Amino acid sequence: MKGIILAGGSGTRLRPLTGTISKQLLPVYDKPMIYYPLSVLMLAGVRDILIISARDHVDMFRSMLGDGSRLGLELSYAAQDEPRGIAEAFLIGQEHIGDSPVALILGDNVFHGPGFSSLIHQAAARLDGCELFGYPVKDPQRYGVGEVDAEGRLVSLVEKPVKPRSNLAVTGLYLYDNDVVDIARGLAPSARGELEITDVNRAYLAAGRARLTALGRGFAWLDMGTHDSLLQAGQYVQLLEQRQGERIACVEEIALRMGFIGPEQCHALGRELGDSGYGRYVQETARRTPARAPESAVGSTAA
Ligand code: G1P
Repeated sequence: MKGIILAGGSGTRLRPLTGTISKQLLPVYDKPMIYYPLSVLMLAGVRDILIISARDHVDMFRSMLGDGSRLGLELSYAAQDEPRGIAEAFLIGQEHIGDSPVALILGDNVFHGPGFSSLIHQAAARLDGCELFGYPVKDPQRYGVGEVDAEGRLVSLVEKPVKPRSNLAVTGLYLYDNDVVDIARGLAPSARGELEITDVNRAYLAAGRARLTALGRGFAWLDMGTHDSLLQAGQYVQLLEQRQGERIACVEEIALRMGFIGPEQCHALGRELGDSGYGRYVQETARRTPARAPESAVGSTAA
């Protein structure tokens, strides 16, 4: 399965923070925002990942993450010139996707909770059409809202409904079979001039090939579109990390646990990070974690 992280847009709601930097590079407590969605794809076992950003920001991402080989990944980069909708990612990324299935994640989403990596593995393993993830929210009007039957099949989906039929918001993690490229090619722009991801999902719904897995109430799904939500996400990460002594979305640790890199490489990456708490954690993790086969890592780590 190929991966795409959509880190586009100009972050207007976060100005002046986003004056010269991409929103998805802003700090969320101890690491740049994009580490969170990147770690989700890594936990899903996805290693070949395209990062799409505004043209002005492509070089910032490239200089931070390079070709990904240091983490055992293959990273590539592409520009989205105008914010023309989430579904444009499949047009920009069509060469990258080739004839594979694809996981798309929004660059400002944090997912964190027990058993998450096994959940996405199961969803990827049974993928036949599209797999969405729903999260109970108190303000579903702000999101795509889905309804499911007892088997987890999607039965209705409406973008920003005035009268939501459930409280399940569709989150920014989407798994698709290869039909998604053709579906995206056939989309017409919506009233707001965008290629809507909800229209892609509704095409799968109409074909009876869409599922939605509800993430439970003990789970955290956060996006970071405003100053408040950015700070809250940072505080959430700080609270858990300080309480447990384990880091969330530490990409070096995940690369090690997934078997993408060995302990020596992990330790070297930690040393390069120097004397920061994060750098010491990476070195310590390399010392105490024996390299494991990818299979046995599944389910043992949350993003
Ligand atoms: C988009 C999608 C929506 C989804 C949301 C998740 O909304 O259109 O279906 O629930 O992302 O963050 P937007 O952020 O473009 O308003």
